[in-house]
Amino acid sequence: MTASSVVSRMSTILALETSCDETAVAVLRGQELLASEVASQTAAHEPYGGVVPEVASRNHLLHLPRLLDRAVASAGVSLHDVDAFAATSGPGLATSLMIGTSAAKGLALGAGKPYLAINHLEGHLLSPFFGTEVQPNIALVVSGGHTLLVEVKEAGAYTLLGRTVDDAAGEAFDKVAKLLGLGYPGGPEIERRAAAGDPMRFALPRTMLDSRDHNFSFSGLKTAVRYLIAKLPPDTMRSDETRNDLCASFQATVLEVLVRKTLKAAKSCNAKVVTLSGGVSCNKALRREMQRACERAGLGFLAAAPAMTTDNAAMIAFAASLRFSSGYSSPVTEEIDPNLALVR
Ligand code: KG4
Ligand code: ZN
Repeated sequence: MTASSVVSRMSTILALETSCDETAVAVLRGQELLASEVASQTAAHEPYGGVVPEVASRNHLLHLPRLLDRAVASAGVSLHDVDAFAATSGPGLATSLMIGTSAAKGLALGAGKPYLAINHLEGHLLSPFFGTEVQPNIALVVSGGHTLLVEVKEAGAYTLLGRTVDDAAGEAFDKVAKLLGLGYPGGPEIERRAAAGDPMRFALPRTMLDSRDHNFSFSGLKTAVRYLIAKLPPDTMRSDETRNDLCASFQATVLEVLVRKTLKAAKSCNAKVVTLSGGVSCNKALRREMQRACERAGLGFLAAAPAMTTDNAAMIAFAASLRFSSGYSSPVTEEIDPNLALVR
């Protein structure tokens, strides 16, 4: 990032998000979200049971021009009104990141306006504060690619407390859904079935629940579900009751680990507020359990708005607006980084 003069908080930011399989464009003026367009590629990836990078980048190319036109029209702005163009520059799929960043750089160069490269994880992390002031907090970011516990002192000042050592929480939902023959992405369908199931029926491992660090591990849980399925008679596995009970038991296990470890991190940092963001945070049971645990511990709790949990460009525009208002922009020569860390 290069410093420039401090700019007005009423700036208009146009942001693009193409880090994985959602193509998204948003326009933010000051704190007001003027447009937020998301084109999901779920149907294109579902036959493969996961995201295929080649298919994702082709779809970004296909959707982006139409989404851009729609976002600008519904925001009621012209490209000349935009003060800065932003895009997710990592982490994510290289060929997907390249589409959004190239488009944002082209727009910025064409309009003679600054470009901002934004970290996808910072987008999620700050999303609970969308349109408000960022307060110090302990943030749990749970998505398909990441599970992070972060101490946020202020926007831009982060300490990584813990992360998953193997699968991300959302990845565990997706893999278990696949084992159960449910669709992709797995989270929403597991949540739906869990609501009708018995969370006590199957005992599953709460790996690293009591570890001394703030890390997570979910791959053993997925393997335990695989062994359990192999042991159950096939006709039992075909019953909705058993599959619902498995979903409920799996979800309760993941939630207990996420909630207990977040509260432990908050306590060890003497935090006052806990935040929750990322695709898995649209899970209503997780939001409810985290809220209850925070209330019991006397902590404030803030979750990203449901529409801002899965990948979107509004959160990227918000992160960009905070950086832009403190006088930063990025050189257009800045490269994408598929492994970009939140804290370097
Ligand atoms: O943030 P996101 O859209 O993409 C990444 O940055 O990874 O998160 C997608 C993840 C998927 O793994 C999906 O299964 C999970 O979020 N997810 C859920 C729910 N909705 C989406 N997990 C649990 N419960 C849900 N309701
Ligand atoms: Zn994400």
